[in-house]
Amino acid sequence: MSKDYQVRDINLAEEGQQKIEWVSGWMPVLNSLYKKFSSENNFKNKKVALCIHLEAKTAYLALTIQKLGAEVWITGSNPLSTKDEIAAALAKQGVHVFAKHAAAPEEYHSFIKSIVENNMDVIVDDGGDVCEFLQENPRYGVNLKGICEETTTGVNRLKELASTGKLLYPAIAVNDAKSKHLFDNRYGTGQSTWTAITHLTNLNVAGKTVVVAGYGWVGRGVAARAHGMGAEVIVTEIDPWKALEARMDGFRVMPMMKAAGEGDFFITTTGLSGVITTAHIQKMRSGAMLSNAGHFDFEIGGGIINIAGGLGHPVDIMDMSFSVQLGCINYFLSSEKQAPAVYRVPPEIDELVTREKLKVERIEIDS
Ligand code: NAI
Repeated sequence: MSKDYQVRDINLAEEGQQKIEWVSGWMPVLNSLYKKFSSENNFKNKKVALCIHLEAKTAYLALTIQKLGAEVWITGSNPLSTKDEIAAALAKQGVHVFAKHAAAPEEYHSFIKSIVENNMDVIVDDGGDVCEFLQENPRYGVNLKGICEETTTGVNRLKELASTGKLLYPAIAVNDAKSKHLFDNRYGTGQSTWTAITHLTNLNVAGKTVVVAGYGWVGRGVAARAHGMGAEVIVTEIDPWKALEARMDGFRVMPMMKAAGEGDFFITTTGLSGVITTAHIQKMRSGAMLSNAGHFDFEIGGGIINIAGGLGHPVDIMDMSFSVQLGCINYFLSSEKQAPAVYRVPPEIDELVTREKLKVERIEIDS
């Protein structure tokens, strides 16, 4: 067992291990990529760090990377979503875990330093916090072949750095793979947000009015699932095309100031601040419920509803997202170091993951 870890309670390991075993049976695409890459030997003696919501599916990705021969460091990308039993189980299996549920910001930042200070070959980031640390501390990035960025917010931060010529590392926008955002952001967040809300509140959704702020991939999924459960859905947007799309999908569209007086549930899906303000809250009816399904807690305060208050995306959805991650890590490890820029997921990886998914779902298509 590795002593190189910081977790809340190592005695929780068995409970975490059981949860990891459950997800391992539902990630056939990842398992098939594992088989493919195990003969290629690219992971042997390499160092990979992950900063993603630390729960069972992420743990299985970490263990798969370890099984391929790499040494793995990990922290959770949002301390509120870190599951202590999963962190303990990983520590027991020799992964270098630095993560505690609800760690204070200073401790979270020290965890980020701990996972990268041994000069990683590849980093998996979720939201851009590790990248930001390495931009400020480039001495820890000298061996880095690349960053694989999991989510929209992180990709936006990377693109901003690249556009001003400040990005120091090659990065792949994993989020932008079709096999990722079309399914994970939309169906994954759509289902898991409502699983968390109904579980936490024990309230009926049918007949309620749900206000969804933002009609991007996440917003579309959250709105579609609310509609499917019988709610009336109102969408707020700033993008005229998305607003029109929401209307043509059958939803009411209006400014938040107007929607504020109508909603029972409010869900932000923008990744930006100032979407729901004090003025909006003052207009809301007593008992209205606010949740954030975007990346940052500054949308309305509080962690991400589907992860902090639930189990995160369904396992079989994360099977695809993490397969894209594994493919991109393998790609960086097997290629020459590239110039700093934000790269697309190689199309062959994107297609491989979706074709594997079709296979496990026993769906045949025409050519
Ligand atoms: P997106 O860029 O497709 O959609 C964001 C939408 O918000 C855009 O249509 C934009 O016009 C709209 N918007 C921006 N400001 C607004 C405002 N003030 N009022 C109303 N609408 C506004 O991005 P995507 O992929 O939907 O991701 C959204 C956020 O969710 C990101 O922060 C992403 O990182 C996060 N995310 C969260 C997941 C989760 O598990 N909770 C999973 C995947 C992504």
